[in-house]
Amino acid sequence: MTTAQPHKVDQSREGDVLILTIQNPPVNAFGVGVPEGLHAGLDTAQNDDTVRAVVIIGGGRTFVAGADIRTFDLPREQSPDLRGIVDRLDQFPKPTVAAIHGTALGGGLELAMSCTYRVAVPDAQVGLPEVKLGVLPGAGGTQRLPRVVGVQKALDMMLSGNPIKATEAAQLGLIDELVDGDLLTGAVAFARAHVDVTPLPRVSEKTAEGGSPELFAAARAALGKTHKGQYSPGLIVDLTETATHKPFADGYAEEGQKFMQAKDSPQSRGLRHIFFAEREAGKIPGLGKDTPQTEIRSAGIIGAGTMGGGIAMNFLNVGIPVTIVETTQEALDRGLGVVRKNYENTAKKGRMTTDDVEKRMALLTPTLNMDDLKDADIIIEAVFENMDVKKEIFGKLDAIAKPGAILASNTSTLDVNEIASATKRPESVIGLHFFSPANVMRLLEIVRADKTSDSVLATSMALAKRIRKVGVVVGVCDGFVGNRMVHRYGDEARKMVEEGARPQDADAAMHTLGLPMGPFEMSDMAGLDVGYLIRQHQAKVAGQPKPDGWLDRIVEQGRKGQKTQAGIYDYPDGRKPVPAASTDELLSTYRQEKGLTPREVGQDEATKRLTYSLVNEGAQILDEGIAQRASDIDVIYVYGYGFPAYRGGPMKYADEQGLKNVVADLEKYGQTPAPLLKKLADEGKTFADWDKEKTRG
Ligand code: CAA
Repeated sequence: MTTAQPHKVDQSREGDVLILTIQNPPVNAFGVGVPEGLHAGLDTAQNDDTVRAVVIIGGGRTFVAGADIRTFDLPREQSPDLRGIVDRLDQFPKPTVAAIHGTALGGGLELAMSCTYRVAVPDAQVGLPEVKLGVLPGAGGTQRLPRVVGVQKALDMMLSGNPIKATEAAQLGLIDELVDGDLLTGAVAFARAHVDVTPLPRVSEKTAEGGSPELFAAARAALGKTHKGQYSPGLIVDLTETATHKPFADGYAEEGQKFMQAKDSPQSRGLRHIFFAEREAGKIPGLGKDTPQTEIRSAGIIGAGTMGGGIAMNFLNVGIPVTIVETTQEALDRGLGVVRKNYENTAKKGRMTTDDVEKRMALLTPTLNMDDLKDADIIIEAVFENMDVKKEIFGKLDAIAKPGAILASNTSTLDVNEIASATKRPESVIGLHFFSPANVMRLLEIVRADKTSDSVLATSMALAKRIRKVGVVVGVCDGFVGNRMVHRYGDEARKMVEEGARPQDADAAMHTLGLPMGPFEMSDMAGLDVGYLIRQHQAKVAGQPKPDGWLDRIVEQGRKGQKTQAGIYDYPDGRKPVPAASTDELLSTYRQEKGLTPREVGQDEATKRLTYSLVNEGAQILDEGIAQRASDIDVIYVYGYGFPAYRGGPMKYADEQGLKNVVADLEKYGQTPAPLLKKLADEGKTFADWDKEKTRG
């Protein structure tokens, strides 16, 4: 018989075993009501002599997926008391068994580790992903995990945050028994088999094996590479070391303090923001869950260049066959060669077998004939950025593609409405803007044109998830969200250099924020000629004189960036930028000619001007409805442009600085704040407030 409790744990009996089922959908996060329910259950077990063991299991699709992240900002006394439960379980006089299916993550695994035993179905996963949220395991995880799996494995798990499979966990002793068949039945049987064990084994009484001063020194040294600029990973290493030489209680107390420090850090706020922003991005107002979708069983790609090949790999990786079209055999061979080489490199690193390589390549059909795309469920055009060429291709596709096929363009700037107008089925046309390298970068800007149907949009969102991208819906404008903001950022960077900054100073200013590349390193990588040609073209169309900025002059010297081993920087070894004497000379001549007196641009000024130029354009984009939410813009910048997730993206960063300060700095440095930004600042609000009001409205 099951008795529903007012809190989120059901109690039921199987003979002498009490079963506590946590019911907090969708993922049984350890939220308000869960500790209360567990305490009530443990009271029952303690007070009833006929109960000889307790099984804790998750209702629905999973065990506990961790502390409820939404409660992190609550005052301490209102937060669900996970430590209180863990402490009680650690000392509980009767055997307790955690029965795991789905995922036991973070606080979920900590809960399980404080039970006497753990059983799991083989496909369950367990892990401590707190580092991904800028925190550390805060309910004994840093002290218990090394005591169970050893120091090295515990560090690997806690620093990567990646879960391991239950089968591996069983080999490590983290899971006591794998249950084939019904989990609850297996867990009850396991509990019954252990009712007479004395004394009960407790993880907190074990010692953490395998640590050494050298191991910890190496772990700390590696953080500079793997977790550059981040706060919580260092704390995780410290606490793991503590576990090796201090009693459990001391390490546990230290962990409690450090967890609170990490939780209240801006880095954790940034990472938690991105966690929810990523999930929010998948929700399109007005687009119901029941919107019909097309099943994507095959894809066509036009263009086997870097982009086309990279896009193809996403589909091949998840088993979707791809037909790829080029205009010459040579281009086709080259494109396929690059795809194969990429896979072979992955195989060399041991992340894929040679069999996997062949399986993927077998799904890729090269052709010179566009008619071969007639059966594809989705066709993605990935040729160079030229409207006439794209329109011609879409006109042809209209005649070739089967009815209902999605016709997508990978354009990064062009008007998707105009591209759609080349067909008689604009409702089937959408922009799918992949980011280079397309097989690596997780962002996919999904450009909804005026006539794109809901079904095409919903199918594209689902497809993004399937090919493991983070899809963000954006509207049509020049450059959509990401590139439009980056153009403003590039303009500001160029202006700063005109005023006297050195390109390497502007780049360094963004490194201090944690970006792997600054504006000029990024331009050199993308190729300076692209922007140059656009500027020249725009001036010509507008009847203006030929642009003669300092960057135009660099391109006119034949320095086009990394690909010519020379751009704003020199690239003596091909990849690593080295400040170029020729750029210094060119700049000095340029400033003289233009009558510009160089001045010192400090790092603080540079960081603010560059970051806030992104924010300012972002605010304008929001106001125009090109992005649905400020948090969508953050997702775009984190997954497409390397903005550090621990800063939460540019809009969150601005919120953290205070929008009033952002406006004041923009004005100080001669930029005009966007009306929406000014309004929010005047009202003492944040972009997060704007998002909330928008969602409610
Ligand atoms: N707290 C609050 N909400 C959570 C949550 C959590 N720990 N985990 C997931 N959710 C929410 C999501 O926001 C989402 O909500 P919406 O439907 O409203 O958008 C919903 O649950 C479903 O999540 P997903 O869309 O991510 O579902 P999925 O099936 O793709 O993935 C998952 C499930 C693997 C559990 C994934 O959600 C996940 O990784 N969650 C985070 C796990 C985690 O980080 N746990 C550690 C928490 S920190 C901690 O525990 C600290 C400590 O030591 C005390």
